[in-house]
Amino acid sequence: MSFGIEVNGRPFTREPRPGQCLRTYLRESGWFGVKKGCDAGDCGACTVHVDGEPVHSCLYPAFRADGRTVTTVEGLAAGSGELHPVQRRFLDAQGFQCGFCTAGFLMTAVALDEEQRADLPRAFKGNLCRCTGYRAIEDAVRGVCHAEAPAPGEAVGRNLPAPAGPQVVTGTARYTFDVDLPGLLHMKLLRSPHAHARVVAVDTSAALRVPGVHAVLTHHDAPRRHFSTARHEHPEEDPADTRVLDDTVRHIGQRVAAVVADSEAAAEEGCRRVEVTYEVLPAVLDPEEAMRPGAPVVHDKDPATARIARPRDNVVGETHREIGDVEAGFAEADAVYEDTYRTQRVQHASLETHGALAWFDEDNRLNVRTSSQTPFLTRRALCALYDLPEERVRVVAGRVGGGFGGKQEMLVEDIVALAVLRLRRPVKLEYTRAEQFYGATTRHPFSVRLKVGARRDGTLTAIRLRVVSDTGAYGNHGPSVMFHSVGESLAVYRAPNKKVDAFAVYTHTVPAGAYRGYGLGQVMFAVESALDELARRLGLDPLEFKAKNIIGPGEPLVTPGGWDEDLHVASYGLDQCLGVVRRAQAEPLTKSATDAVTHAMADAVTDAVPDGWLVGEGTALAMIATGPPGGHHADARAALLPDGTFDLAVGTAEFGNGTTTVHRQIASGELATTAERITVRQSDTDVVRHDTGAFASTGIVVAGKATLRASRALADLLLDFAAGHLSVPRADCRLTEEAVVHPGGRLLLKELYEAAGARGVTLTAGGHFGGTPRSVAFNAQWFRLAVDPGTGEIRILRSVHAADAGTVMNPMQCRGQVEGGVAQALGATLFEDVRIGERGEVETADFRRYRVPQYADVPRTEVHFTDTADTIGPLGAKSMSESPFNPVAPALANALRDATGLRFTQLPLTRDRVWLALDRAGVSAPHHRERGKLDG
Ligand code: FES
Repeated sequence: MSFGIEVNGRPFTREPRPGQCLRTYLRESGWFGVKKGCDAGDCGACTVHVDGEPVHSCLYPAFRADGRTVTTVEGLAAGSGELHPVQRRFLDAQGFQCGFCTAGFLMTAVALDEEQRADLPRAFKGNLCRCTGYRAIEDAVRGVCHAEAPAPGEAVGRNLPAPAGPQVVTGTARYTFDVDLPGLLHMKLLRSPHAHARVVAVDTSAALRVPGVHAVLTHHDAPRRHFSTARHEHPEEDPADTRVLDDTVRHIGQRVAAVVADSEAAAEEGCRRVEVTYEVLPAVLDPEEAMRPGAPVVHDKDPATARIARPRDNVVGETHREIGDVEAGFAEADAVYEDTYRTQRVQHASLETHGALAWFDEDNRLNVRTSSQTPFLTRRALCALYDLPEERVRVVAGRVGGGFGGKQEMLVEDIVALAVLRLRRPVKLEYTRAEQFYGATTRHPFSVRLKVGARRDGTLTAIRLRVVSDTGAYGNHGPSVMFHSVGESLAVYRAPNKKVDAFAVYTHTVPAGAYRGYGLGQVMFAVESALDELARRLGLDPLEFKAKNIIGPGEPLVTPGGWDEDLHVASYGLDQCLGVVRRAQAEPLTKSATDAVTHAMADAVTDAVPDGWLVGEGTALAMIATGPPGGHHADARAALLPDGTFDLAVGTAEFGNGTTTVHRQIASGELATTAERITVRQSDTDVVRHDTGAFASTGIVVAGKATLRASRALADLLLDFAAGHLSVPRADCRLTEEAVVHPGGRLLLKELYEAAGARGVTLTAGGHFGGTPRSVAFNAQWFRLAVDPGTGEIRILRSVHAADAGTVMNPMQCRGQVEGGVAQALGATLFEDVRIGERGEVETADFRRYRVPQYADVPRTEVHFTDTADTIGPLGAKSMSESPFNPVAPALANALRDATGLRFTQLPLTRDRVWLALDRAGVSAPHHRERGKLDG
């Protein structure tokens, strides 16, 4: 009997392969709206309907669909092309950021009946979103409309929807793997089973005999060059300690060989047949042990050429700096508090995994399509690695399905390029979810020994920190994260005496890398907790104690990390942030979060605190520079097109951070037009000019400033040319949506274009910004929570976040960034933990064991923006994508201290950890806030 299914009204009769799941069958049939997030039924990105019922297509055998009707997100819209009402609502509420999860949420939402819609935490338990924090998704389902359509030239500050929205909700947005390349080969990686070993021999003969295998690449095929997978404008910031394939493996999961074959199955079989002989070497898994004399050395390299501070001590980077005299500062203190704080490994868990495709085009140029935050720096690195001229390489990032810093690395492009250079055939490598955990990067785990002292009147006298960051087997981002971690976290306080000793240390574990906040969150957990504790010991209100010691407007910034030359308080909203918290504190316990009755923590945010639960409140504040030190470059080009619309080319990548929307808003303001008349081109090294990349929250403050300059220059150019062409005074000419208005009438922009062409004039203008000087943004988070002393369960009763983003360019989007950051940080605070086993293996390599926040886990956060305008950022804007993460963990720990009297110094604050501490301390009765002196 022949196979047959109907997909979105079209018949498909191709037989599935034995064991093939419906997800891959559909994608191979061209339905790219069906996404891969986990292939284990945990994330829901692959949700489709089979005979009207939503299923996870990654778990659904394709043969079982025989004779059935399948609907994917592409089939939701009516035949006329009119959107399904739920698709329309996701557009109106901007119910997505990167949009990689959106098709799955749509397919689930469309199938809900009224009863299910009343219980969304349950209805969405099979769908994960890593970006939004779920509030926007709830609004979408409820039909809340945020989108606005402002008049021409008035887009800044308004809720413009993302230009890619229609493609996202119809499944036609093209992410990295959503392309069909004829003759595509597939790569799979053989990974190390040892934490530390020398590769003595690799026998590839059996693998090469597997039908369909084209090549097996080993360290013999790889360049001998060392590089860093981290991507920065200046590569010398990072240690050169990595090879494409190495003859030494330094963590379990490091790649040892790559097999390229006609199919993924053949490549996997090839990996199983590669025979590797290892000489197993001693490994060190703990950074403190790694620094001790005699510890196994992770990288025995020349410190100068490898840019490793002290290779024999496993110290890749370090800083030692003292401002004032900390010992004298402690001597004059009336109270001193000292403790060690620890944070764990956390994974970015972007729903789109790492991966790349590469091929040679008809002009014999190497093309790389990759899920990257840094296409230009990736091109630069590939050229350096393989001696290729830049004009022979094109790197393109399609729509990126989440990054959070994890894609500020070159983790896949190097090996895919090696295969393509060898085989001259198109090759694809797509990480599995498990590979994300042991083959990509994590947040750096930190240990922070901290001592703080203050006088009785609340004047902070001294802060001393010893920071040890575990960078894992490779130093990508290790030194930079370590430097940044002790920068703004301390500079925000005015203590005259500060001392920092910080180390980034190698171990034989999965490498750490860039992650939202770039080290600040780890040190802020320690600093914000410790100052709260010190205030309590002095009998002071923690918030007022901090308010007394923070820097004020216009004060110079001094970072113990020493990265402060170009850093200014170019706008100041920290006082307003604290004002938001004070107002929240003053409100009664029964105040529930904004219209949260329908949302995830509905039961918790109402006034019902279960009997016997302890209630507490806590705050933390945060400061962050609006860009990285050392320069961050962006170029933009704005042009008038023949039809009278505009083209804007800007390099920064869009991965859900909303920069495309904001860039259109900026340009439309300058060009007095509507955002729809501006086409934005991004993230393609062939069509836009250099951009350092979409990281360090620079999409608006750096690339946006280049866009502003280019748009402003184009507006000037248009008016100048029109005035000259018409022989009228420039001052009497005005740019409107479609024309230049002048004393004699109107000259349509398309006529202007023609007139310019006739005179050989090009109406194109450029803008550049080098990322310096920089300003600072501020945040404050406040929680009210309840704890069950019988189980350790924490319920958030109310969550309030104040954000000083300067001019808020798009409140709907900016609110989404804050909510998403808070939600992600709550996962890292409460349960996310990449656990490392005794041999150095990652024990939590899937979404069952590594739990990211689900809809039901995330409370609604009230987001408040300050009223400030920055004097450096474009149109007064500041960055606001990383910083909401940073104050969450300490605010929650401070609330827990307030509720229980116990100071928790280690993340995550799991139910078990909390219960054990409460049990040991004998905390069981409802707690009075004044009690607060019991130390954990
Ligand atoms: Fe949901 Fe990115 S928008 S994962």
